[in-house]
Amino acid sequence: MQELRLLCCVALLGLTRACPEPCDCSRKYGFQIADCAYRDLEAVPPGFPANVTTLSLSVNRLPSLPEGAFREVPLLQSLWLAHNEIRTVAAGALASLGQLKSLDLSHNLLSDFAWSDLHTLGALELLKMDSNELSSIPRDAFRSLHALRSLQLNHNRLHTLAEGTFNPLTALSHLQINDNPFDCTCGLVWLKAWALATAVSIPEQNNVACTTPSVLRGTPLSRLPPLPCWAPSVRLSYQPSQDGAELRPGFVLALHCAADGQPTPRLHWHIQTPGSGTVEITSPNIGTDGRALQGSQPRFRAFANGSLLIPNFGKLDEGAYSCVATNEMGSTESSVNVALATPGEDVVWHGFRGKATEAKGCYTVDNEVQPSGPEDSVVIIYLSRGGSPEAAVAGQAWAGQRPQSMLLVCHSLLLVLLAAF
Ligand SMILES: *[C@@H]1O[C@H](CO)[C@@H](O)[C@H](O)[C@H]1NC(C)=O
Ligand SMILES: *[C@@H]1O[C@H](CO)[C@@H](O)[C@H](O)[C@H]1NC(C)=O
Repeated sequence: MQELRLLCCVALLGLTRACPEPCDCSRKYGFQIADCAYRDLEAVPPGFPANVTTLSLSVNRLPSLPEGAFREVPLLQSLWLAHNEIRTVAAGALASLGQLKSLDLSHNLLSDFAWSDLHTLGALELLKMDSNELSSIPRDAFRSLHALRSLQLNHNRLHTLAEGTFNPLTALSHLQINDNPFDCTCGLVWLKAWALATAVSIPEQNNVACTTPSVLRGTPLSRLPPLPCWAPSVRLSYQPSQDGAELRPGFVLALHCAADGQPTPRLHWHIQTPGSGTVEITSPNIGTDGRALQGSQPRFRAFANGSLLIPNFGKLDEGAYSCVATNEMGSTESSVNVALATPGEDVVWHGFRGKATEAKGCYTVDNEVQPSGPEDSVVIIYLSRGGSPEAAVAGQAWAGQRPQSMLLVCHSLLLVLLAAF
């Protein structure tokens, strides 16, 4: 101790900055250690020598870690912060610690943690965050922790974990996730399968258990019965004519996205047109009473039943329409390209050219350019002055809900002929 004080005095004399007054700084086994544990500290004290490699601030009363909290000690390899009252770790509090191997934040009140700071801690081998109040972890939180061997997240408030959360942890050998109030719904089914298959040791498996739903309360994840869960499938169909009425300029184009999946998928439309640019719509944006759910009437009207209505469909509404269905099991997308044409007109459209030919109900496509994939189905809405055998074709496609087979017949192109106007 005496020696240590002396060392600090020597440092004070100008060799380097002193050890902060409440702490003890020492050199042991080639490490520069700063011991500030059990000091009733309410903030990280300033004045550390820049070569500190081990810093203990355990058992104090730190309420939070602000940005730049450890700026003075960039060479830190071990940081002990257990048993404080830390609720918040601000962005930038830890990000500068690129050499950090061990971080202990256990036994705090952490609910607000800047997960993005972990992205720069690529040397981390031990991360203890157990006995806190963490309620969620972003899917990519651990994406840079390729050296992490031990991760402790037990005794928190985690309800669920996103599939793939632990995938980047290629060096992981020990994972503690017991005693969290897991919600055993479809979103967590992956964890059971992963835990069964992984070589990572997961202690206290009986306490890795469900809290909700109530029928599963207390059931260990490893004994979770099979749940009815499947990823969404989507089928996109279209209706150029409502109620079978003849189509005229100014008609309403209706796309219908029929999504299946368990749990019931949420729908999202992704639209790109020259008139509106890129539009993202979380469906529905129109209520059952026909009114906009937010703000003014939108150009594209998305209903809860999966229909997207575009009134007064015109040249500026040509473009790509995608329906994305998402649930806890995954996400599936189906797209259609919609073009508007008049007979005899050359159409140049996203990599294919064709000439509208009234008689066949199909575009003739230049042989060398074909749509690139099944998702590139194209609906050509064909403004015609003539008769309309093709309108019947379109009607069939709607009634049978099988536009795909029609698309095949027509070289992946479907022609919808409008009645005379
Ligand atoms: C850290 O710096 C101090 C002061 O320059 C020095 O006495 C000490 O030996 C250094 N520690 C290590 C581990 O290099
Ligand atoms: C969905 O609801 C809208 C608005 O009520 C309606 O116009 C549309 O026809 C419905 N779609 C289907 C497939 O029933």
